[in-house]
Amino acid sequence: MTTLREPVVTSHAQFLIDMAARAPSVHNSQPWRFRIGPSTIEVYCDKQRKLRTDILGRDMLISCGAALFGLRLGVRSLGYLPVVQLLPDPTRPHLVAQVGTGASAPVTGEENRMLEAVPYRHTHRGPFEPGPLPDGLLRGLRDDALAEGATLALVKENAAYQRLAGIVAAAADHLYLDPRTQEETRRWTRDADSLVRDGVSAQTFAATAAGHPGRLTQRDFDLGRGLAQLPTGGESPAATAVLLTPGENWVEWLRAGQALHRVLLHAASKRVFASLYSQPLELPATRALIRDRLALPGNPQMLLQLGCANIGEPTARRPADELIDA
Ligand SMILES: Cc1cc2nc3c(=O)[nH]c(=O)nc-3n(C[C@H](O)[C@H](O)[C@H](O)COP(=O)(O)O)c2cc1C
Repeated sequence: MTTLREPVVTSHAQFLIDMAARAPSVHNSQPWRFRIGPSTIEVYCDKQRKLRTDILGRDMLISCGAALFGLRLGVRSLGYLPVVQLLPDPTRPHLVAQVGTGASAPVTGEENRMLEAVPYRHTHRGPFEPGPLPDGLLRGLRDDALAEGATLALVKENAAYQRLAGIVAAAADHLYLDPRTQEETRRWTRDADSLVRDGVSAQTFAATAAGHPGRLTQRDFDLGRGLAQLPTGGESPAATAVLLTPGENWVEWLRAGQALHRVLLHAASKRVFASLYSQPLELPATRALIRDRLALPGNPQMLLQLGCANIGEPTARRPADELIDA
């Protein structure tokens, strides 16, 4: 007698969705939902959680791409190759990906190290430790981005960095005065002792967002409210990079998100963490300016600054059972 085995992704759905949900997302908005099909897990973007300032849904799609990479890595941890279809059904545009399993393949050492980093990877907004990045890491991160169809361009020259820092600071000044941006920041920031499982906790940001030499101006989560718990200052990050995609559409943004999460997990596996800067990229004119003034070979989707740092407390996430639609 033959027994029908439940497909791997459905029998491990809770674990896989937990893996996906540890992904970084803009303002920790976690703009994703999941549906467990007969042999696939479906990933949906949750438009109710889209930032009002994210007009095109670019940050939402990058966040969903990051979740998709977590899900793929979860499938790898089970010893299978993931089979992914992006935007598989034009009649259901919110269905951003369908993930099933293909052939079995042993988990590699690098994948194992990324898997171990999932629980402690975090967005790092506090001071970095002194010192360079581990040898060969930047080359590895560039390969990660390429493998996901994106490019990680390093901003190495001081003149290029100064141009970027100037553009980021000007965008921050502009957006600081924008009531919609302020309202959105207030909506998604949480007191240090909040038990709410989304949004950015005051434990993870510093009071002043202004850049110091070598550090780009960060998004101002505090807005002068005195919530912030992180110290300022510290060493400058060891590297600045821009994540690029060839085009600007939903597929490219999903690719950017997968590349971002892969780069961040690989870095975290070496105890290297990143500050992320998407605020200046919310302004189309600023995106174009960064691309032109730095002569970048693609469209900027995320700015990153990387450095060595201590492992931080993981930020809160909604549990898998709140994310699954029947
Ligand atoms: C698309 C996207 C945009 C982001 N933009 C910023 C940003 O401008 N400033 C910032 O400090 N963090 C930014 N982040 C990081 C998120 O705030 C962070 O992922 C979220 O709060 C969850 O925390 P964690 O990464 O520590 O798990 C961004 C993340 C994503 C995926």
